[in-house]
Amino acid sequence: MATNNVVIIQCEDEYFESINLAEKIYIRMPGCSVFLICDEFDPSYTEKVMLAGIRKVLQFPIDSITLNENLETAYFLEKSRMENVESGTTTSVQSQMITVFSTKGGIGRTTVAVNLAVALSKKGKKFAIIDADLQFGDVNVFFDLDPKETIAVLTEGKDSSDMDAIRRVMGLHFSGVSIICAPKSPEYAEYITPDMVDAMIDTMRPFYDYIILDTPPVFNDISMVPLRMQTCFYV
Ligand SMILES: Nc1ncnc2c1ncn2[C@@H]1O[C@H](COP(=O)(O)OP(=O)(O)OP(=O)(O)O)[C@@H](O)[C@H]1O
Ligand SMILES: [Mg+2]
Repeated sequence: MATNNVVIIQCEDEYFESINLAEKIYIRMPGCSVFLICDEFDPSYTEKVMLAGIRKVLQFPIDSITLNENLETAYFLEKSRMENVESGTTTSVQSQMITVFSTKGGIGRTTVAVNLAVALSKKGKKFAIIDADLQFGDVNVFFDLDPKETIAVLTEGKDSSDMDAIRRVMGLHFSGVSIICAPKSPEYAEYITPDMVDAMIDTMRPFYDYIILDTPPVFNDISMVPLRMQTCFYV
């Protein structure tokens, strides 16, 4: 079994040497994530950095909390990648759906959904959480995220069936949980259709061990999507 490590390469202006070293580590040491840390990153090296498999480029000054978050994220992502590779489940994986629902507000649905996602993600499972409380969802608050994009931008064209478009919307918590936040304002909720949520879930399923849906405290077209899938966890 491969061990999981994170290697940090400090680079001043010897980009070539650092990137070559990172590439060797990437090829020869599966399970090892490489970070490059430098004073000022020259963006013309971006493509080389990506090809060498460098997980993240960090720039000085960097505070300990940000460094720690990045290290944890890299560690858990690589750990779950290696577990999938070792168990041979990379192509056949279909995530399980967990929906947290109740008809009463303020009862702890979001707390359960978020804590479940973080706790199991730390055990190496790949988790995504969708905030399907479209009008007043606050999953982002629980993760302390201020999302640039939300589920609302997936309403255009075939975006909800396009994994790259979905990934652009996702926030990533340092625990490894990917998050699709509810719209920032309640009026956007009406543009999100059950078909769109269905398509989005179908598209995401091969990429995650679990997808958790947080829901509003009402039966509506959207909360019925996961309920129809019969994968519900009642609070
Ligand atoms: N087991 C618990 N014990 C005590 N307080 C809790 C517990 N679970 C949740 N809470 C608190 O209850 C409040 C409501 O929790 P939460 O937002 O998770 O509920 P909700 O059902 O998602 O609410 P909403 O209807 O607003 O979506 C929060 O302040 C949360 O910290
Ligand atoms: Mg809630």
